[in-house]
Amino acid sequence: MTYILGIESSCDETAAAVVIDGKTIASSVIASQIDLHAQYGGVFPEVASRAHVEAISAVVDQAMRDAGIPYATLDGIAVTQGPGLVGSLLVGINFAKGLALSINKPLMGINHLEGHVYSLWLTQPFREVEFPVLVLIVSGGHTELLLMHGHGHYERLGGTLDDAAGEAFDKVGRMLGLPFPGGPHIEQAGQKGNPSAFNFPRAKRDDSYDFSFSGLKTAVMREVMVKPSGDARKSGDKADKKSQLRADISVNDVAASFQEALVDILVSKTVRAAKIYDATEIFLSGGVSANQRLRILMKKESDLPVRYPPLVLCTDNAAMIAAVAHYRYGEALRRGAVVSDFGMDVQTMWSLSAMK
Ligand code: KG4
Ligand code: ZN
Repeated sequence: MTYILGIESSCDETAAAVVIDGKTIASSVIASQIDLHAQYGGVFPEVASRAHVEAISAVVDQAMRDAGIPYATLDGIAVTQGPGLVGSLLVGINFAKGLALSINKPLMGINHLEGHVYSLWLTQPFREVEFPVLVLIVSGGHTELLLMHGHGHYERLGGTLDDAAGEAFDKVGRMLGLPFPGGPHIEQAGQKGNPSAFNFPRAKRDDSYDFSFSGLKTAVMREVMVKPSGDARKSGDKADKKSQLRADISVNDVAASFQEALVDILVSKTVRAAKIYDATEIFLSGGVSANQRLRILMKKESDLPVRYPPLVLCTDNAAMIAAVAHYRYGEALRRGAVVSDFGMDVQTMWSLSAMK
């Protein structure tokens, strides 16, 4: 059995978890900073790193207490090394280095995106996987379509060329005056709206597996914002120029139509890739995989089984980081062959297909 402590601080959640054998969550603590960032309408990096510093010690402590094991029982410490915000990542990495040194346990740097993939292995009841599987990671920072050939073996088929799917949800949420993060609020509003009310563009309807959401975002903006009058344009009056939400627009209809356009393109490319590459299953992960419309449409359009994590594992957490460490290093940990990299540095950009 491996007992691994995971630590995650790549964005705006400070999290720690203890995972047994890469499958069983003994504890999982998540301190969210959403309230701190709401006033900025997005994650404010400086605020995030400071909040991580304040929270991390208590969060790790709580995870160990909830797991009910002493530090001596741990086989190793897994920490998110990237991708993510540099200041936020540094807090987790430095804390993990100090802890690993003080309790004399191996330290492992983990890719956050791979964490999202392995949230599927934490999903109960666990069912063995037959490779290759098609993985769609959709979060606030990433939109990646991957073919997973085996544990730790990824082929990147495509990804976003501009905004991430979650980022598009958040930006449109802000336009519509919804609270941050916009994703869940757009979903909620969309349930009361008509998804065919607006025919928003489905960009990159081509043979590639790349996505582009900035055109969709601009189309929504054109539709819902009051256009500045000619007089205001000439006078350069800032107050008049400032875009405002049209009074006659139905927020629910815009939310439903925007969600439909975004989900439609995610589903069509994923289903096509799954067919062409003979995948056995489709995996959805990351914050946007919490979206019910995405789950429903993916299941409707594909003949393959579609798996996604429970809500609490869709968004950022540390259990998924510990799970990756088990699959990457479990064998070596048991042999005592993992050498800690105390010189480990942040990897703010770190593609999964670059992993061996
Ligand atoms: O994976 P995550 O917690 O953080 C990153 O690694 O980015 O994802 C957060 C993103 C946010 O953009 C949020 O708006 C989006 O996931 N999200 C959703 C839903 N729940 C969270 N987007 C659409 N529908 C949802 N229900
Ligand atoms: Zn994430």
